[in-house]
Amino acid sequence: MCGIVGIVSDKPVSTRLMEGLRRLEYRGYDSAGIAVVNGRGIVRRRAPGKVLNLQNLLDGAPIDGNCGIAHTRWATHGRPNEQNAHPHQAGNVAIVHNGIIENFKSLRQEMANKGRVFATETDTEVIAHLIQDNMDEGLSGEDAFLAAVERLEGAYAVAALVGEANQTLYAARHGSPLVVGFGKGEMFVGSDAFALAPFTKRVLYLEEGDSAVVEIDSVRVRDEEGASVNREILTASISTVMAEKGNYRHFMEKEIHEQPEALARTMAAYIDPETDLPALGETAPLLKNADRLIAIACGTAFYAASVGKYWFEALAGVHVETDIASEFRYRTPALPQNGAALFISQSGETADTLAAMRYCNRAKVDTIGVLNTPESSIARETKTNLRTMAGPEIGVASTKAFTAQLAVLAMTAIGTASLRGRLSEAETQEHIRALQALPELVQKALATKAQCQAIAPILAKAKQTIFLGRGGYYPLALEGALKLKEITYLAAEGYAAGELKHGPIALIEEGTPVVVIAPNDPLIEKTVSNVEEVAARGAKVIAITDEAGAESFDTRAEHTIILPNLPGLTGPIVSAIPLQLLAYYTALELGTNLDQPRNLAKSVTVE
Ligand code: AGP
Repeated sequence: MCGIVGIVSDKPVSTRLMEGLRRLEYRGYDSAGIAVVNGRGIVRRRAPGKVLNLQNLLDGAPIDGNCGIAHTRWATHGRPNEQNAHPHQAGNVAIVHNGIIENFKSLRQEMANKGRVFATETDTEVIAHLIQDNMDEGLSGEDAFLAAVERLEGAYAVAALVGEANQTLYAARHGSPLVVGFGKGEMFVGSDAFALAPFTKRVLYLEEGDSAVVEIDSVRVRDEEGASVNREILTASISTVMAEKGNYRHFMEKEIHEQPEALARTMAAYIDPETDLPALGETAPLLKNADRLIAIACGTAFYAASVGKYWFEALAGVHVETDIASEFRYRTPALPQNGAALFISQSGETADTLAAMRYCNRAKVDTIGVLNTPESSIARETKTNLRTMAGPEIGVASTKAFTAQLAVLAMTAIGTASLRGRLSEAETQEHIRALQALPELVQKALATKAQCQAIAPILAKAKQTIFLGRGGYYPLALEGALKLKEITYLAAEGYAAGELKHGPIALIEEGTPVVVIAPNDPLIEKTVSNVEEVAARGAKVIAITDEAGAESFDTRAEHTIILPNLPGLTGPIVSAIPLQLLAYYTALELGTNLDQPRNLAKSVTVE
């Protein structure tokens, strides 16, 4: 959610703090702020809205110093205005925070009883007061910081400036990620390695409960118990170049077009080039022997898991239960005795998915991550990992991460079926070769761009849009509706085509756009019957099908988006492309902020 960056250096840090914030803006963009220590003590600037507003403020009223922290906010407590923007200050303490302090009310009351005056509605401000209060009681800056952090309950990553001339950054994490970066004559802290990528790739990931004292040329880390520890310094794999928009108008547009390459990379990692058989590494034994699988995720990643369920059950004959992480973690689920749990996440930091994974770890269920961020918390805590090679995804709407998740799940379902003897070697190879055609199929699907752009005004003008699908295309209908909702703010719902007559068909009126995803498969005629039902009630049908399925839609659809024929498990993966394009061009038509839609953030690190 919120983004944090801090720098302590032998030179002024403001410009680079702002650069870090621009890279972190995908995490939240309700407000932004910066604080530095200089000859005048701690000075800060804050502005509501985008980082650009803060930049404009700084251009008119610059501040600088050799040690500073900065923040971009996704509001939880308190309206997104200047007053509630981080850094929050109490005396000689400034603090930035990502997460939620659950016991802030009682702490705030305690501080207020001591006469401390609060200037904001946030849960964060109390941390600054606790630290200052500890210093007033005679503790050193470091001890004051550590004693304050010890009292916090909830999920947090914090970075602080403590003392009016102290060239030191104090940091701590519990539930929200934080990295320390190593430069030449300077050190950094950041919410992720991506924020620090222009400055350094040498990073250390703080672990749960860690705190750090970061000085110009060193870092001291303590674990949850307060014992000094050495955390491994790694070279982050994120390329700064990959995170530029290039010639595209939006990251979303760029990421949609990167899918052929992202899928080729992802598949290459899991196919043995000698045999054309799936290579699942250390995950293979977990899947071979599992009597049941559970697949847990949030949002788009959950829809990927839901498609995976169809594949695992049909090919490998394994029972798969899917669950939304925020429900799973609190419903005392009956866990498999001899099963495995898959956690699907682009960021690897989604708070609910992380908590669900820890629940399974505690219950000794084998945990498998399907993750796009190899250094993430989920990647580090799952027993094994299957990486999606989509590369950094910056647009809030997930596109290439989704199709890469589907590719990994398809590969894994085929691999599991093969390990269990449900597919012969020849059948397995046939399935794998079908998947190897994905980059080309997706490239062809991108050619539906002009048609999607032409259809976009229909969706842009509609009161609501309905998405329909059956089987593996049902989760695609849900994903199509989510994509449209999140970037256009228009009403959209996805339904299983056969479920429509049990209630939702009442939504159909003259002109309601109904996007039906139905490439040729054994269920296509059933879906076409459902299309007849909505068309008879005045719906404007937009069919997404393949060459073999086009005839079935014939005159029944007002618009037919025709994909190439889709062999094996490629159907749901390739069908995602026109859904992304429809949402993209509708948002473009409406002029919404495509990469940073309102109220959302890329990485949801609060529950
Ligand atoms: C998708 O477009 C969303 N922005 C969102 O649903 C996302 O997929 C979800 O928050 C899960 O994120 P994760 O993959 O990083 O865990």
